Amino acid sequence: METSSQLASRLTAASRRKFWDVYNFFDWPEQLTDMWCMSPELLSIYGTPAFEALTEEQQKRLSLYECGNFFSLVLQGERPLVQGLVHRYYSKSYAKEITEYLHHFVDEENKHMVMFGEFCNRYVGKVYPEKKISLSREWAKGEEEVAFFCKVMVVEELGDYYNVLIARDDRVDPLARAINAQHHVDEARHLAFGRKFLAETFEKYSAEWTPEVLAGFQKWLGDYLRSSWGDYYNPTMYRDAGLEGGYELRQLAMTHPAPAEHRRKASAKLVDYFLGVGILAAEPQL
Ligand SMILES: [Fe+2]
Ligand SMILES: [Fe+2]
Repeated sequence: METSSQLASRLTAASRRKFWDVYNFFDWPEQLTDMWCMSPELLSIYGTPAFEALTEEQQKRLSLYECGNFFSLVLQGERPLVQGLVHRYYSKSYAKEITEYLHHFVDEENKHMVMFGEFCNRYVGKVYPEKKISLSREWAKGEEEVAFFCKVMVVEELGDYYNVLIARDDRVDPLARAINAQHHVDEARHLAFGRKFLAETFEKYSAEWTPEVLAGFQKWLGDYLRSSWGDYYNPTMYRDAGLEGGYELRQLAMTHPAPAEHRRKASAKLVDYFLGVGILAAEPQL
């Protein structure tokens, strides 16, 4: 079976072959088209009475701000990701092929922040700030390392679910589609690396964990996943889209069965991975 170092070498070669220049890759029109910015079925309140009460024009306006919020929350996940990866460069516990690949991982994430930031600033007027409050806690040996790569998987797998569906949706504005498509191309490599490396890292450290440490970690991960979904329901985003009652809409998205079913579907691949590796013992309530 291929090890993470062997996989890293292959991915390094692929990243070099597909090396791209974020500053010359996209055309940035003065204005977006009047198409959707995100597939309507992916909008946070899709399937609720609040969504059905909107005109198509209002729904499309919401899709611009939801797209801005989505790009912002991926960008806000990439910031600590880059910080954490750079911090790990040349770590003694990593094979040299891993560090070599991390340079590409960071380079690509940096480009993603540039393209997401450019889109948000141009068409939404801002990048939405980070919402997550990270509670400091005591970690057992290796727990923080496993947690770091779990957070990477959460932001990348959930983001990729959206990227793939939006990239292939011809109802969506061409620039919004192109950004989602390009992100998916790079993320396919990051995800392949993350799945392998996290499984190896978990296996290495969790062998020494007591059942209490493992249970505590699993609870933390379930909470982290729920809070990541909460970021999709940003009250300021609803207000910017011209909708009243941002907090009520957030509450609706968190409690109505239609968005709950969407969360289950969009998280299925990620949750199956966590269950398969043993990082989770049961499907979390999302
Ligand atoms: Fe990315
Ligand atoms: Fe990534």
